[in-house]
Amino acid sequence: MGMNHLIVVVGAGPAGLAVANVMSKQGHEVVVLNRDIKFGGLAEYGIFPNKHKLRGGLRKGYWEILTRPNVHYFGNVMVGNGYHLTVSELRALGPSAVVFSTGAQGTKTIGVEGDTARGVYHAKDCVYHYNLLPEFSTRPFEMGQRVAVIGIGDVMVDIAHWLSRRRRVAEVHVIVRRGPAERKYNPKEIRAVCAFIDQDSLQKEMVRIAPRLEAVGQSSEKILAEMRAEFTKCEPPESHTRMYFHFLSSPKRVLTNDQNQVIGLEAEDTKLELRGADPAAVGLKTCYTIPCDSVVFAVGDRVDEAVGLPYKNGIFVTNPHRTQNDPDDSLFQAYDEATGEVIPGVFLCGWARKASEGLVGVAKRDGEWCSEVVLRYLADKSPLATEEVSCKLTRLEALVKSRQPDVVRVDDLLALSEMEQEEGQRRDIEEFKFPTNDEMLTAIRRKKSMAKVSASR
Ligand SMILES: Cc1cc2nc3c(=O)[nH]c(=O)nc-3n(C[C@H](O)[C@H](O)[C@H](O)COP(=O)(O)OP(=O)(O)OC[C@H]3O[C@@H](n4cnc5c(N)ncnc54)[C@H](O)[C@@H]3O)c2cc1C
Ligand SMILES: NC(=O)c1ccc[n+]([C@@H]2O[C@H](COP(=O)([O-])OP(=O)(O)OC[C@H]3O[C@@H](n4cnc5c(N)ncnc54)[C@H](OP(=O)(O)O)[C@@H]3O)[C@@H](O)[C@H]2O)c1
Repeated sequence: MGMNHLIVVVGAGPAGLAVANVMSKQGHEVVVLNRDIKFGGLAEYGIFPNKHKLRGGLRKGYWEILTRPNVHYFGNVMVGNGYHLTVSELRALGPSAVVFSTGAQGTKTIGVEGDTARGVYHAKDCVYHYNLLPEFSTRPFEMGQRVAVIGIGDVMVDIAHWLSRRRRVAEVHVIVRRGPAERKYNPKEIRAVCAFIDQDSLQKEMVRIAPRLEAVGQSSEKILAEMRAEFTKCEPPESHTRMYFHFLSSPKRVLTNDQNQVIGLEAEDTKLELRGADPAAVGLKTCYTIPCDSVVFAVGDRVDEAVGLPYKNGIFVTNPHRTQNDPDDSLFQAYDEATGEVIPGVFLCGWARKASEGLVGVAKRDGEWCSEVVLRYLADKSPLATEEVSCKLTRLEALVKSRQPDVVRVDDLLALSEMEQEEGQRRDIEEFKFPTNDEMLTAIRRKKSMAKVSASR
């Protein structure tokens, strides 16, 4: 008689699927619950749509994991307060461990007056829109001609890419609270948009801020040369978009007209102050205005509090008591400050643990570390008999089905994938995606009924 554990993974992004990979290889039964119909998280709905090779490679690996006989995928299912299943309902089903890898689904606001005006957007929502995540795919996301984007990380670059090549807006203004030396984007990524950067304006901007950089020992000329050295292999421009940088500028207020529509962004001048290795931005109380039709915050995200795990200041609380182990168990353990105790068998990984940090590879590694911690936790727990595991699985499936009749299983996803490929061929495009859950569900039903008809012939 076989003995193993039942592991529930909530969230099928790179982190959760790394956990599913390790745990299923160890012979455990793995249930994956995922909000989206499709797996992949930001690998499917974040990574820029033209990165076909990267996306295709990841997808292939994920298919392999999810089609293993001991992995059970339930898509279109949300866990949390007011969602399909709550955390306590899930735990009451008696799995050996539950891992939350739900990513950073909350919106980070930075407390700028007017940030709820019409024309203010958060980068993640725009990213979900152009990657056709249902709910975001069909909203218009009107941007106007002049767009201010706040932040200078890779997400800013993706947004600028979309605004310049897809939306073909006239101007993209990048608002950066610190200096050019504190830019966070990857030099390779800037190639997608460097052809749009207005080089004269960039040079003038560097001259404008030179004294404030010199005050902290930075040379504006050297930094400009370094930036320009990265503007090689720029992809050819396909629009007339111009891109401008505004450094040492902290967003202060979104200016609106009497219809609450964005007309500009007020920024406060800042200077750098050395505190440790990383300089901080300090406001100088003088402000200036950048006229614009919309504002996109590309400043990172936070977790979704509604998942229902102990939450504080934008993050899920983990165990503050360090262990001697490597990886350190405490970093992955959910923790209840009210009782002062670890929540037994509940773990966190990926962007659910550290929001907006790192690439797919980092999330994958985090899932692998988390798996080590879970395996350590299970080491002194007695495994369950096979019948017990299947009984728990049946109960879980029944509960999920009762809350979400449109739950999507892996055979449904295979049908969907075939339908999308056929549609892509018909339209002669590299990748076709159904933009709504309804269309995806209809396609699955159609494919499956066609398969039934041909089987009965
Ligand atoms: C715009 C953008 C572009 C990026 N481009 C790249 C790139 O080119 N290369 C690269 O290496 N990295 C890139 N990254 C980083 C990479 O996408 C992340 O590091 C990685 O996806 C994080 O993985 P995760 O599993 O922690 O979270 P996610 O990928 O966000 O996955 C979370 C999963 O949880 C599910 N979920 C959420 N809430 C619930 C719930 N309540 N119940 C059930 N399921 C839930 C979601 O449906 C999703 O499937 C990009 C990130 C962004 C934001
Ligand atoms: N193509 C890719 O490979 C790709 C694409 C997208 C995302 N990613 C990855 O995903 C992760 C998240 O990317 P990200 O761009 O969201 O995060 P990020 O790299 O941390 O950049 C966030 C930017 O927002 C700024 N910011 C934060 N709070 C602010 C505030 N209150 N006021 C003004 N500016 C503020 C930050 O400035 P400060 O530095 O001053 O805080 C920074 O410039 C990164 O690891 C990134 O590499 C990768």
